[in-house]
Amino acid sequence: MYLGLDLGTSGLKGVVIDDKGNVLVQESVSLTVSVPHATWSEQDPESWWQACVDVIQRLQQRLDVSKLKAVGLSGQMHGATLLDHHGAVLRPCILWNDGRSQGQCQALMAEFPDLIERSGNLYMPGFTAPKIRWVQENEPEVFAKLAHVLLPKDYLAFRLTGVMSSDCSDAAGTLWLNPQTRQWDDDLLAATGLTQANMPKVYEGCDLVGTLSEAIAQELGLPLLPVVAGAGDNAAGAVGMGVTNPGQGFISLGTSGVYFTVSESHKANPQNTVHAFCHALPGRWHQMGVTLSAANSLSWLAKLLDKTVVELLDVLEDSGMQRTKVLFLPYLSGERTPHNDPQANGQFIGLNNTTCLEDMTLAVLEGVAFSLLDCQNALSSAGSMVDELSLIGGGARSAMWRQIIASVLNKRLIYRDGGDVGPGLGAARLALLGEQQGLGQNIESLISQYCTMPEVLEVHEPDLTFSVYYQKKYALYRAYYQATSKLNH
Ligand code: XUL
Repeated sequence: MYLGLDLGTSGLKGVVIDDKGNVLVQESVSLTVSVPHATWSEQDPESWWQACVDVIQRLQQRLDVSKLKAVGLSGQMHGATLLDHHGAVLRPCILWNDGRSQGQCQALMAEFPDLIERSGNLYMPGFTAPKIRWVQENEPEVFAKLAHVLLPKDYLAFRLTGVMSSDCSDAAGTLWLNPQTRQWDDDLLAATGLTQANMPKVYEGCDLVGTLSEAIAQELGLPLLPVVAGAGDNAAGAVGMGVTNPGQGFISLGTSGVYFTVSESHKANPQNTVHAFCHALPGRWHQMGVTLSAANSLSWLAKLLDKTVVELLDVLEDSGMQRTKVLFLPYLSGERTPHNDPQANGQFIGLNNTTCLEDMTLAVLEGVAFSLLDCQNALSSAGSMVDELSLIGGGARSAMWRQIIASVLNKRLIYRDGGDVGPGLGAARLALLGEQQGLGQNIESLISQYCTMPEVLEVHEPDLTFSVYYQKKYALYRAYYQATSKLNH
C-alpha cells in the first residue's frame, strides 16, 4: 500500500492505493484561508501539519498502516513558507492566490527583462519569487532572518523527514528554477536576493528524498516509510489521471481552475500568461492556463446564501434551467490567465427583480467555464491543442458543470474514476513509482504500467444547440471585463 498526501487550499487529503494502484480509502480534513487584506491570502503552516496528523489518524481507523510502503506528497503550488536557520516558520505562508506582489512583479520585469526568457514565465503575483521581494521591502525584519524558502508540500515533507527537498514541477512555479535544466538558476535567485544556499535540493517527482524521522514515525504510528518528492498539485493531478504524454490534457476544478497540457519540451509562452513548467515525471514538461477562482466561486456563493454547494446544484438541476440572462465574472481572487490582474473583481451582471438563485448558480457555472475558455485560447495561441480532456477536482463531481464546460470549450470531456480524488491519487502513484524505482525497476516501464488513465465514468460531448448562446455570452464576458476593470484600479 502507498499513501498520497495532498495539501490543498480548502483541505488536506490522504489517499491510499494498493500495490496494483487501486484506490483503497481516502480521508480529508478542512483548512481555512485567512484574508487579512483585500488581495491577500495566507495560511498557518502549523495548520497543515495538524491536518496531516489528523488525516493519518483517520486513515489508521480504516486500514492497517503497517502495510504502507512509501509516502508521496502533492500540494497547492507557489506558497512561500519562510523559515529561519532552525527551520522555524517566520510568518504565515503567502499563498498562490495572493495578489499583493503586483508592484514587485512589475519592478522585477523592468529590472530583469531577460529573466522572463530564462524561467519561461511572466512574474505574476501568486508565484513565489515576487513574494520574497515583497517581504524584503515590507517586512525587512522577517527577510533578515530568512534562511530557507519551502513550498507548502515541501514543508510537510520537512516536518515528516527533517530533510528539505523539492520536486521540479513545483519548483518551476517559484520562478527560481530553469525549467529546461530542471535546476535552480543563480540569476533568477539573485533577482530576489537569494542564493542556492536558501533552496532545498530539487528532485524528480518520483525520487526518494528521505525517510520518516524516528520520532515522527512513532508519533504517527507509522513504519519508517520512505518519502518521495511528489509534485505540485496540478502535475500530481496529471499523474493521477494518466496525463503523462504530449497531446494529453485535463481540467482541474478545484479552488482554482486549471487547463493543463503535456509538452515534450519546455514550451514558454509568457506573453499569453501561459504557465510553462516541468512535469513531475522525468523528461516531460507541461503548460497550463490558470483561473484563480473556480470551485471557490461556487463555494463563495453557497456561503453567502447560507447553503451548501450541493444544495445550490440540486436546486438548479431540479429547476431544469439551462439558460440565464445573468452573467458572472469569477474574478474573486483577481485573475492570472489571461489578464494577469490581481485587482480584477468578480461581477454579477444582468440582475433584476425576477433573478433567482438558479440564475445566479447557473451564471457561476458558466462564468467559470468562460474563464477556462480563456485558458484554452491562451494555450492554443501557444501552440498547445488537445482533442479531449479528463476532469478532476471537487467541482468535477457536478455532471451539469462538466456538460456546460464541454459545450463552452467545444471539446469532449471525460470524467474518470478517481477524478474526485484528484492530486492525492497522483501523489500515491509517485510514492509507488519511487519505491519500485528504488528496487531497480525502469522508470519508463513503471510509468506505462501504473500511470494509466482510470476507467471512464461519463463522456460529455459538446452540445451544439447551445453554441450561439455561449458564443454571445462569452463575447459579453470578455467585454464586461474590459468595461468593469476601471472599477478595480
Ligand atoms: C497553479 C496554481 C493553483 C494552485 C492551487 O499555478 O496557482 O492551481 O496550485 O492549489
